[in-house]
Amino acid sequence: MRKDFREIALAAPDLKGKEEEYVVQAIRSTWISSTGEFINRFEKEFSGMAGTAQTVAVCNGTVALHLALLALDVRPGDEVLVPSLTYIATANAVRYVGAEPVFVDVDPENWCIDPKLLEASITRKTKGIIAVDLYGHPADMDAINHIAAIHGLWVVEDAAEAHTALYKNRPTGSLAKIGAFSFFGNKIFTCGEGGALTLNDPGLTLRIRTLRGQGMDPDRRYYFPVTGYNFRLTNVACAMLCAQIERKDEILAKRRNVFSGYRERLNNIPGIGFQPVASWAVPAPWLFCVTVDYAQYGHSRDKLMAYLKENGVDSRPFFIPLHTLPPFRQESMQRKEMLPVTERLAAAGFNLPTHADLTESDLDYICAIIREFAS
Ligand SMILES: Cc1ncc(COP(=O)(O)O)c(C=O)c1O
Repeated sequence: MRKDFREIALAAPDLKGKEEEYVVQAIRSTWISSTGEFINRFEKEFSGMAGTAQTVAVCNGTVALHLALLALDVRPGDEVLVPSLTYIATANAVRYVGAEPVFVDVDPENWCIDPKLLEASITRKTKGIIAVDLYGHPADMDAINHIAAIHGLWVVEDAAEAHTALYKNRPTGSLAKIGAFSFFGNKIFTCGEGGALTLNDPGLTLRIRTLRGQGMDPDRRYYFPVTGYNFRLTNVACAMLCAQIERKDEILAKRRNVFSGYRERLNNIPGIGFQPVASWAVPAPWLFCVTVDYAQYGHSRDKLMAYLKENGVDSRPFFIPLHTLPPFRQESMQRKEMLPVTERLAAAGFNLPTHADLTESDLDYICAIIREFAS
């Protein structure tokens, strides 16, 4: 046990720049709701990062996905292909519009939805695909868009966990019809709760902006041509995001340093594996992923996580496959879905602490525990 014992958290926001100053500025301006200079600035600057013409700020990443599906006119009875190895919001958003998520296995080479398996799941009801850039690694979007185009489907990119990742040199968020981001507290760039849609379609952007603001006609106050939602993000939240974007390189460099620190220290431990990186990808350094091969390491993933916890180190198991969870299990069984890669990864993988406050000695400490526990 270390002398300076303190819990090492899984995630912690890096708010050491002008976050506080800008939030105070927003408060003093009295523009604290969903109009203000920080919203305009954030939407413009984030478009620059995502490589899209438009960004629409919304109150969280789940809402970004929900709005994307509403704007694409997804309806009850429709089917949407999604990975099962993802956060539940990806599939929940499909249910919010009355449609059904159909689960497709992931590619063992990049852990994202496998384009080779999409066609087998397409039916007359299929309207689109949500590809998730899992744990910061972009999905194989050219292959996914290609299959989608053949079958007349749209593609939404759930880039919630992959801020600034690159796919063949193109930024995540620009790789499908609509990109969706989350700025939850554990994300690379955060404002506590927040989200954004990124796209290059002025008509669709107008529809999304209208739906975000209760459905009000932008040219006629209190005239509502459609039923909309209050999915807006505040100027105060965008003030934080502007400060985060200002320090984008620094925030990314610190996280990349943690990634390389883990890779160096955990190298050559029998049974400990890393997230694969495709030749065409520059992943975003979100949460560092490790897999545990029970037979080679000598302990299960859960045993190792429990041992880390005993020693004050927090970690997270990979997502429980969505097709096995109560809201989706029955439908998935009826469709006889088989997702062996998803199930294997979900049982073997977990995330190690990844944030700017981790010191070299924290990394030494965490990795020494993992090495010493191997048997
Ligand atoms: C892949 C994925 N999609 C969607 C979301 C939902 O974002 P939020 O928590 O901001 O609603 C998250 C995460 O939190 C996520 O990891």
